[in-house]
Amino acid sequence: MKNYIKHQEWQIIEEGFDPHLNKISESIFSIGNGRMGQRANFEETYTGETLQGNYVAGVYYPDKTRVGWWKNGYPEYFAKVLNATNWIGIRVAVNGEELDLNTGKVLEFSRVLDMQLGTLTRKFIVELRSGNVLGVEAVRFCSLVDDEAGAICYSITPHNFEGQISIESSLDGDVKNQDSNYDEKFWTEISKTEQNSFALLTMETKKTAFWVSSGIHTEIHQNGAPLGLKPKFVSKEKYVAQQFTVDVKKGETTAIYKYAVNLSSENYTKNKMEAEAVATLQKIVAKGFDRMRQEQAQAWAGKWQNGDVVIEGDVAAQQAIRFNIFQLHQTYTGEDARLNIGPKGFTGEKYGGSTYWDTEAYCLPFYLATAPQQVAENLLIYRYKQLDKAIENAEKLGFKNGAALYPMVTMNGEECHNEWEITFEEIHRNGAIAFAIFNYSRYTGDQGYLAKYGLEVLIGIARFWAQRVNWSIEKERYVMLGVTGPNEYENNVNNNWYTSTIATWCLKYTIEAIELVKGMDPVRLTELFAKTNFKEQEETGHWQEIIDQMFYPVDEKLGIFLQQDGYLDKEQVLVKDLPASDRPLNQKWSWDRILRSCFIKQADVLQGIYFFEEDYDLETIRRNYDFYEPRTVHESSLSPCVHAIIAAKLGDLDRAYEFYLRTSRLDLDDYNNDTEDGLHITSMAGTWLSVVEGFGGMRIKEGALHLHPILPQKWTSYAFKIGFRQAVVTVKVSDKQVKLSNESNVNLEIHVFGLAHQLQANSNLELNT
Ligand code: BGC
Repeated sequence: MKNYIKHQEWQIIEEGFDPHLNKISESIFSIGNGRMGQRANFEETYTGETLQGNYVAGVYYPDKTRVGWWKNGYPEYFAKVLNATNWIGIRVAVNGEELDLNTGKVLEFSRVLDMQLGTLTRKFIVELRSGNVLGVEAVRFCSLVDDEAGAICYSITPHNFEGQISIESSLDGDVKNQDSNYDEKFWTEISKTEQNSFALLTMETKKTAFWVSSGIHTEIHQNGAPLGLKPKFVSKEKYVAQQFTVDVKKGETTAIYKYAVNLSSENYTKNKMEAEAVATLQKIVAKGFDRMRQEQAQAWAGKWQNGDVVIEGDVAAQQAIRFNIFQLHQTYTGEDARLNIGPKGFTGEKYGGSTYWDTEAYCLPFYLATAPQQVAENLLIYRYKQLDKAIENAEKLGFKNGAALYPMVTMNGEECHNEWEITFEEIHRNGAIAFAIFNYSRYTGDQGYLAKYGLEVLIGIARFWAQRVNWSIEKERYVMLGVTGPNEYENNVNNNWYTSTIATWCLKYTIEAIELVKGMDPVRLTELFAKTNFKEQEETGHWQEIIDQMFYPVDEKLGIFLQQDGYLDKEQVLVKDLPASDRPLNQKWSWDRILRSCFIKQADVLQGIYFFEEDYDLETIRRNYDFYEPRTVHESSLSPCVHAIIAAKLGDLDRAYEFYLRTSRLDLDDYNNDTEDGLHITSMAGTWLSVVEGFGGMRIKEGALHLHPILPQKWTSYAFKIGFRQAVVTVKVSDKQVKLSNESNVNLEIHVFGLAHQLQANSNLELNT
């Protein structure tokens, strides 16, 4: 764990330059706008440790799978989130000497990510080897308003010299992915040109043939006024730049304004892309840096207006929740149903692909409550559109009759994860996709989605489960063999309680959904049955048999659900007894040792209890929590939030708070020693859940909004805003009071601590606790 980020409510602040922390900071200070994003790399040359990263949404490379031993059914490729053209480069040479913080002496340094304004600012003073000292202030952002554009204002002030500065503002397409399997570069050049004051570069990905057209325009100002310098155009392979040489004087500031656009062939026809890049660049250059920056601040104000969480009395907690919300918005805006929420967003390469079960299990509730309904619906439609591929994927593994297995990792619906114990066995992901349809219908009350899209997906998923189980003569029950549950520290286990539970839940829910659609839209149902060749009696009859006779491992003595058949055969040791030097296990222990240990990577049985909470009484929940929590190492970022929610439900406020801090500051404080790879974007939705569902106790029951708020001791108060159906309500929880403000024109029934209240449109209600 590190502790170098300064605590501040609206800003993420790093003071002083420690090159060993640079890759971590590059992740933390990442910026993005849903369409593109980047790590907080430096504009000028940096020869020290860095992970360079610029990403364009939806653009990926199918890197050839590399495995030790090929297994039938493996996908041919692993989709890599692609490091794309670097548009931020501004090389600076002072009287011929290159500015590089790795070789110069850094006298002062700070980085600030301003979450209200949506800007990244870096300031430093550096002494070059020549003894020349200069100050730099660099402000940049990826515009939310013009979401294919970014802008930089890079100001240089000589402290003790005068002379010449040469500047090279570039587009560099000669980039690579650090995780390239065969050290291959993934881009080829299509074209590069100079057009008036613009430099343009179009690159193409190998194999997938995506095009990204980038353009830049650079202006040099001195003492607040443009110099009107014409750039010298520089071009080499996969690279274009605009060069300037300016005379500088001690104490006088030279500002470099750089405007950049990145357009993807996902959105334009290829032969028009360069012209479109020019038009987009013209538009932002005409706006100018200051107006773009103002619009950026307004757009962010709008996001905060709809979804801020305010915590009083605990700056670390306040900063952290805002950081999580900020990063989620930077990753996914919900405007494009082809996009999804990658576990690292635009902040690193790790994990590849863009879509995991994380989206359905963790992210959906955040968007349901804080964004227009269409955003959550788009996330579901994304999977609907990939149903054919999920059916194909299941067929490759030997399933038939329209059974669908959604991929563990995907970019376009095809599986691209290639470790057999996950690709073939971590099948619980299918359940999360069904659960998301349920969650959406429960939250929005919109059952129409089921008829239109949802049921078709559910039928494919239910068919998969029905074929994945088998009858055990010995147990006289249906069993589910050879699976990996959410806890990836056990592989190829039999009867993982969570997987079996969500499997039969899917069967039940699909039967219910059929009945619902039958009542709502019988014509559609007939159409759907014909399309899917569904034999209602026969198939649902078999499903019911599985539901009635499924085997779930339990331990009667301990009164708990067993994570899997053999869990209690393992030596039972608690996390508290592990030496600190052994943690994190995934970096310190051999894989074999991890697999044989009882240590749990992430919520597994507890994940099931979290989803299906209403099926269990409080004592059952407590027994399972008391047993599994001390064995969980939380080495997946997705874990602490589930534990936080359950701890809060059980009234274990201290632990709930501890888990909250862990999930919310996971990256800011580098808890798992892996922030340098990128941020854990999907688990950030879990942070939000731990406030709203954890401390706020928000649940939807029988179509109504329920709250059960509790206040962590360290906090004076907290407040969150949610949209529920047509209503918008702010919930503020303080020591003695729960204040509800209905900020909409519709009345809302709301249950607080189990009591129903009528919250009239545009009115407040104060309840003493
Ligand atoms: C977790 C998975 C998760 C993936 C991406 C893994 O470490 O175990 O549950 O889907 O990360 O976030």
